[in-house]
Amino acid sequence: MADAVFVGMPKRLVAVSIDGRDVEVTEGSTILEACRRMSIDTPTLCQLDTLAPVNVCRVCVVELEGSRVLVPACSRKVEAGMKIRTDSERVNHSRRLVLELLASSVDMSLCAPQVQAWMTRYGATPSRFGTGAATVAQPVKVDNELYVRDYSRCILCYKCVEACGVEAQNTFAIGVAGRGAR
Ligand code: FES
Repeated sequence: MADAVFVGMPKRLVAVSIDGRDVEVTEGSTILEACRRMSIDTPTLCQLDTLAPVNVCRVCVVELEGSRVLVPACSRKVEAGMKIRTDSERVNHSRRLVLELLASSVDMSLCAPQVQAWMTRYGATPSRFGTGAATVAQPVKVDNELYVRDYSRCILCYKCVEACGVEAQNTFAIGVAGRGAR
């Protein structure tokens, strides 16, 4: 008799509606994954496929019918029947504000081109929070040629923090302090 091979339970599909279009995604997927499935470009800063969501940047938020608050697409799992909007005025306003606040406190000029594209898309105007960005008045820290820290350009994505944490290195070498304009 052949040995039994355990292949696990097949994953069910979950039907949701995003921006008025129906889509089925695998149970356990996030809203972000469902959006990607539909080629809806969703801004993210702190999300990385290989790390558990830390939910700190809030630039990925979407509107979920029945929810009083906007929900983070990167961590909220899909549930059958969800009605999600990624393009409402409320979503756009929230994303714009997140990008404006970030860009008003750090220098985003050399940031990833994709972040610049999101700033343009959402009409972010960081100057309305003051003229000068870069409130992080610290010299660039050069530990060695592979490890250079310029906090005036840090967009607080937490990826370096998380990479040093329990999911990867377990060194806890980097933390976050001094968030905000002051
Ligand atoms: S990408 Fe979702 S909270 Fe940062």
